[in-house]
Amino acid sequence: MKLQEKITQLKREKNAIILAHYYQRPEIQEIADYVGDSLGLSQKAVEVDADIIVFAGVHFMAETAKILNPTKTVVLPDLEAGCSLAESCPPEAFSKFVNAHPDHTVITYVNCSAEVKALTDIVCTSSNALKIVESVPEDQPIIFAPDRNLGKYIMKETGRDMLLWDGSCLVHEAFSIDKLLELHSAYPDYKIIAHPESEEHILKTATYIGSTAGMINYVKKHSDQKFIVATEAGILHEMQQVVPNTELIPAPSKEDNTCACSECAYMKLNTLQKLYDCLLNESPQIDVPKDTREKALIPIERMLELSV
Ligand code: 13P
Ligand code: SF4
Repeated sequence: MKLQEKITQLKREKNAIILAHYYQRPEIQEIADYVGDSLGLSQKAVEVDADIIVFAGVHFMAETAKILNPTKTVVLPDLEAGCSLAESCPPEAFSKFVNAHPDHTVITYVNCSAEVKALTDIVCTSSNALKIVESVPEDQPIIFAPDRNLGKYIMKETGRDMLLWDGSCLVHEAFSIDKLLELHSAYPDYKIIAHPESEEHILKTATYIGSTAGMINYVKKHSDQKFIVATEAGILHEMQQVVPNTELIPAPSKEDNTCACSECAYMKLNTLQKLYDCLLNESPQIDVPKDTREKALIPIERMLELSV
């Protein structure tokens, strides 16, 4: 039996569901019950009534699913699947930062640990960040963490000043502006679309800026155009399914790697074999201590309420 078939059979026997992010390997996206962006995956995690959630994504995403649905068993194919952005915001240092600014409302991007979420007033994702920031009264000071690039983008769009945590995603900061401009001059009829975790000089070149789901929807709506896509290259799989006749080029990275695109090494740690193994062994499981879980749930629920 092929591994895909074994996973499908085991999933049925164990009443499990597979949730996958758009940056996962194509073969994982293909076997998933739901593929989405961070917001979609959180919303899905709430409504799941399967006994086991196999989270094909990175640690903070699986943790968010566990916080939202603590009675379920949540497994992650590879426990090492972390996130450079989440790691750029250690809870102890962030706690000191928050305590130094007690009058500020704390908004954190979902790409952070449960401990950081527990120090937060409202969580956001790249789908709803503008809406969440705009929901806070204009005269109320805001701390925004951990992504400085998304933070700067929100400041520019909303005209609001925010106190930014100095974190970033290695994958989105790996795009080369020189190579991108060179590529664009060779393909001037292609439109650049970008994820807001990218640096300001990349975002300045973009016709559209949005979350992974936002970028897919944009391409779908403008399928008669051609695109250079500045986000993790895994998105191209779903994008190409949605618009099979649209020409897409991944934005070039600074590294001279084989695909000349940006790949998230953490996301790619999950493989089909590890997915099968974790479902079979129901391990490694994600667990969040009760106190942290209860505190982190409040800002995630606020986000979900503000996202309907
Ligand atoms: P979204 O899917 O919410 O756009 O997030 C991108 C990302 O970097 C996930 O790690
Ligand atoms: Fe984290 Fe960046 Fe990978 Fe997303 S792409 S999981 S933000 S390191």
